[in-house]
Order: sequence, then C-alpha cells, then structure tokens
Amino acid sequence: MNITPDNDLTRRDFVKAAGAVTAVAATVGAPAIQKVRAANDRVQYGIIGTGSRGNYLMKHLKDIDSGQCVAICDIQDDNIKKGLATIGGSPKVFKDYHELLAQKDIEAVFVLTPLFVHYPLTHDALEAGKHVFCEKCLVFKPHEVHALRADAAAHPNQVLQTGLQRRSSYFYQTVKQMVDKGILGDVHHVHAQWHRNMINKPSSLWTMKPGGESNINNWRVYRSMSGGLTAELTSHQVDVADWMFGSAPEFVMGLGSLDTLKDGRDVWDNIQLIYKYPKGQKLTYSSVSTSSFCPYFNGSRAEMAEMIMGTDGAIEITVGDDVNHCIAWWYREPPKAATVSAADAKKKAEPFVAGATMVSTSGVVKPIPIMTTDLEFTNDESFFGREGKFARRWLMSKGILAQEEADNPVDVELEHFFEGCRAAKTIVSPIEIGMNDAIAVILSNLAMDEGRKVYFNEIETMGLEPDKKRT
Ligand SMILES: NC(=O)c1ccc[n+]([C@@H]2O[C@H](COP(=O)([O-])OP(=O)(O)OC[C@H]3O[C@@H](n4cnc5c(N)ncnc54)[C@H](O)[C@@H]3O)[C@@H](O)[C@H]2O)c1
Repeated sequence: MNITPDNDLTRRDFVKAAGAVTAVAATVGAPAIQKVRAANDRVQYGIIGTGSRGNYLMKHLKDIDSGQCVAICDIQDDNIKKGLATIGGSPKVFKDYHELLAQKDIEAVFVLTPLFVHYPLTHDALEAGKHVFCEKCLVFKPHEVHALRADAAAHPNQVLQTGLQRRSSYFYQTVKQMVDKGILGDVHHVHAQWHRNMINKPSSLWTMKPGGESNINNWRVYRSMSGGLTAELTSHQVDVADWMFGSAPEFVMGLGSLDTLKDGRDVWDNIQLIYKYPKGQKLTYSSVSTSSFCPYFNGSRAEMAEMIMGTDGAIEITVGDDVNHCIAWWYREPPKAATVSAADAKKKAEPFVAGATMVSTSGVVKPIPIMTTDLEFTNDESFFGREGKFARRWLMSKGILAQEEADNPVDVELEHFFEGCRAAKTIVSPIEIGMNDAIAVILSNLAMDEGRKVYFNEIETMGLEPDKKRT
C-alpha cells in the first residue's frame, strides 16, 4: 500500500489508502441475505427465554425470512406475553423447555436464558437433535466446559453457535483482515473498555429487584447465577482480542471490587484485567459502573470500544447498537524515522545523542474511517455517482462525516445461524470460539477472586469430578 509520510492526507492519497482497505474488506465477503424464501425452506425454530435479549433478537428475527418461529418458552407469564407480541404469528407456547424440545417440527432453538442455565438447556437441545444458537457465554462452570465439548463431539452435524455478534460484523472482519495482512504492522496490544454510569443511568437489568437471590430477574447480580461484568461485558471484548491475536490467552491477572452498588449483590461493580497471549501480546481491559466516558472516536461515543494497536497503525472500533451503529477508525503511525548520522547532525548544528536515532514527530494523526461496501468503486457508477463517492470518502477523511456499518451484525449473525442449519455446519462462532470465550470468563473471575495469575491450561484439570458423577 502506498501511503504518504504526511498524516494529513491529500485527496488522492486518501482514496488510495481507503481503496486498500475496501479491497481488503471485499475479500471478506458479507453473507448474502435472501429476502424471499419458500415456506418449507425456512428453518423452523423455537425460542427459550423471552426476556430482554430474547425480545431484542426476536425484533430482528421476525424480519429474517430464512427462519420461522414456531414455538416460544419462558418460565414467566409476563415475558411470554411480551415475546408473543414481539414475534407475532401464532407460535406454540411452553413454560417447560422439555416440552418445546419434544416437538418434532422444531429444527433449531435459541437459548436466551440466564447464564447458569445455558449448559443444561444446550445439552438437552443437542440430545433432542436440535441446532442450537446459545447466547454468550456458552457455559458457566468448569465441569460444563468438558461436558459440552463431549456433547458437541457427539453431535457433529448440529450447529452450535455462540452469540458473539462482533464476529459477524463487516468492520470487525475487515480489521481482522488488516491485522492478518500486516497493514497495522505487528499487533502487540489491544485495549478495551466497557464503562457505564449506573448511578446516573441505571440499567434495569443490573438493578436489584425485590426478592434478592430468590428472584430470577436478579440473576445478573448474584454469583450463583452470573459471571458478573466479566461474563456480560468482557466476554465480547476478550473474544475480539483472541480473534485479532489468533489465539486464546496464556494467562490472566486482575482486580475486581464492589465499591459503589452495595445493595446486596455479590458481583463486582468494577474490574480491571490484563491478559497475556502466547506471543507476548496483551489485552488490557477495564469495566467500571460509575462513568460512561469513552475517549475513542474523539469522545463522540460512550461506554464501549476496543483499540487494536500495531507498529504501523491503530484501529478504534465499536459494535454499537440499533441506534449507534458499528464504526471503525484507522490511525496510521508516524512514518519510520530516518537514522541521522552524527556527522549529518553536527553539520546541521542540531542537538543530538551520538549513535541514537533522531525521531521526527509528525503531530496530530487524523483518523481514516473504514469504508462499507456502499463506498466501494464498482465502475458501474455514473460520473456523478463516482464523484459523490469521492466526496463522501473525502468528508470522512476529514472527520466531517462518520461512516457506519450498513448491516447490524446481529442480523448477520442470525442469518449465519440459519445458513449453518441448512448446511449442517457452524459458520461463525463455533464451539471452540464460544468455549475459549467462556473459559476466559471463568478464569478471569478466578484470577480476581484468588488474586493470582491464572494460566489458561488450568481449565483442563478443573471440574473433572462433577463430570464423572454425571456420566
Ligand atoms: N450478545 C449480546 O450482546 C447479549 C446482550 C444481552 C444479553 N445477552 C445474553 O442473553 C442471555 C439472556 O439475557 P437477558 O438480558 O435476556 O436476561 P433476562 O433476565 O432479561 O431474560 C432471561 C429470560 O429467561 C427466562 N428463563 C430463565 N430460566 C428459564 C428456563 N429454565 N426456561 C425458560 N426460560 C427461562 C427468564 O424468565 C427470562 O424471561 C444472557 O446469557 C445474556 O448474557 C447477550
């Protein structure tokens, strides 16, 4: 790629650089979304858990033609009502998931329940012959790691997809290609944060409701049912680091504490984690509940983002939500400094250190937004269409226009799931990825609980006893 040394790009330079990124992006290949299908070609599915995430996914699912909801299940009547209103149609309704799994016409199920019941439901669904989409985290306890690996091996032709939607994001896929093709140089560090202000903007999901631990709707704030911030937030971002670095971590260390939200909960309200990867790369991670500030994207987005740092450039990226879509900004490093010899330096009568490399600083680095497919040049555009694309790219290079991902990664991940069901193979976020993610959550919490460095290979000897008892 031909990039000028000056970080303030000219129009022509910018188009070249942006073209390189779109060329990379084009190789990723966004999944084709088929809008109209014959009724009998649609994957018949059931939803287990019609709470917050269930309703969010159903809002997306009802517009996806490759699947059809034929049953829903929840243990709470109110949530069943909400689920029915969201998905529409006339799905069968169950309060006991075993009855839903016994329905022969159901090919696939979505497990959208609290974390502590993910494994039992997923196990039973696989045994019942269903394809499974299970929200992150795939499992909750060490013995479930071993048990689900065995279950997946016993059902190789059934899809087992984890809800890690960043894996289905065109921008994240593009950044992964940039990392793999060396466009960012050597990538040594990822920094990620998910900061929220639960004092000024409490989330109902994390607010203590009457009944304490006996109320299922408080599951997030009790360790008996939840992995706390690590499971609910970090899980997404450690998965990004695993993906970019190309492996699971080697060890994790961290500090967690409950300092502010002292209402009877026993999960922490702030956590700080450091992960070391096998080639020496690191993920530094922070989640707090008392500030939503995010320094990325010129402070224009709150709460969460990841920064992927290489020797030749860095990327700021966030997946966003339905309102604020995914964005990704690329910053080039200042160009490599020329080594100035002592003689040259003396000639110029400038201060120098003999033998040292004189580094030139190039000032402010401007971000280059990563492009979506609608700004690629196809050669089919009219003259004005092409000029329009140039203009939009140029405005983006100046930070005047923000480029957002066209397709919500959640829609794409759901399409991937149905596509996988038809192909009898998991297309994205298969068990290895979901399992690495769940293991990272289990071990991060252990590292913070025990105040020690926890190695990832420790999982192989953890929780073996309960497994033996079950079988
Ligand atoms: N991928 C993401 O970005 C994302 C976002 C939010 C939540 N999630 C995940 O989705 C899952 C659900 O979270 P939520 O926010 O919807 O929680 P929630 O409490 O709002 O909903 C969970 C629902 O499951 C039901 N339920 C519990 N046990 C059940 C059982 N045995 N059978 C049937 N239904 C049962 C509850 O009654 C409730 O309606 C969690 O694992 C969470 O981590 C993922």
